Amino acid sequence: MQTIGIIGAGAIGSAFAKAIANKGIRAVIANSRGPESLKELVRELGPSIKAGTKEEAAAQDIVLVAVNWSKLPRALAGLPDFKGRIVIDANNPIEAPLFKPAELHGRLSTEVFSDMVPGARVVKAFNHLQAELLAQDPSSDGGKRILFYSGDHDQSKAVVNGLIDQLGFFGIDLGPVSIGGKLAQFPGGSLPALNLVKMG
Ligand SMILES: NC(=O)c1ccc[n+]([C@@H]2O[C@H](COP(=O)([O-])OP(=O)(O)OC[C@H]3O[C@@H](n4cnc5c(N)ncnc54)[C@H](OP(=O)(O)O)[C@@H]3O)[C@@H](O)[C@H]2O)c1
Repeated sequence: MQTIGIIGAGAIGSAFAKAIANKGIRAVIANSRGPESLKELVRELGPSIKAGTKEEAAAQDIVLVAVNWSKLPRALAGLPDFKGRIVIDANNPIEAPLFKPAELHGRLSTEVFSDMVPGARVVKAFNHLQAELLAQDPSSDGGKRILFYSGDHDQSKAVVNGLIDQLGFFGIDLGPVSIGGKLAQFPGGSLPALNLVKMG
């Protein structure tokens, strides 16, 4: 089974970790303050989730990054080349307390993000729902909660779709970043915050 690294242990990182833990999938989760500060969180999440450094998280088979937009450069600086591994971009280019959209110079946020993770096959996913919904049982509304994903590498998208499926969600492929990244980007896209459920 593939191991997961999670960089960012806040609202989205810990909601994703909870979904992973519910299925007994192994993961290493990291924040800026070091593994000691995550002791309580990993105790609550259960035995499949370990606290680690961001370097340890970045070394796992699949890495999800969920860090405040302005802190991404620092969080990802100095990590080794990802050498073709999948990195999931769960980030949105806006943050509290001002909720002012970040300056992207006409690019999509996942394009900007991809420049920060050299050698990675980036898939945008787990970014369109509020953390509270991501942390809930994906079947709690009577069907399977929908998650969107997009990316430029079909095999990597298939792996992420497999993970989404394993977690009990229903994945929808939005195509390449140029199309799907735009639809799922917050702010600007039409899909963020839609809590959709696939019935039947
Ligand atoms: N909240 C939502 O509902 C939601 C929904 C969709 C997408 N998103 C996106 O997900 C991302 C994370 O949002 P969030 O709400 O989870 O933020 P958050 O609760 O503030 O958590 C941010 C996490 O990033 C970590 N971090 C910051 N700098 C770091 C560094 N240099 N190295 C390692 N980790 C670092 C923080 O660690 P420390 O606490 O140790 O500093 C914290 O664990 C953002 O891009 C946001 O737009 C959020």
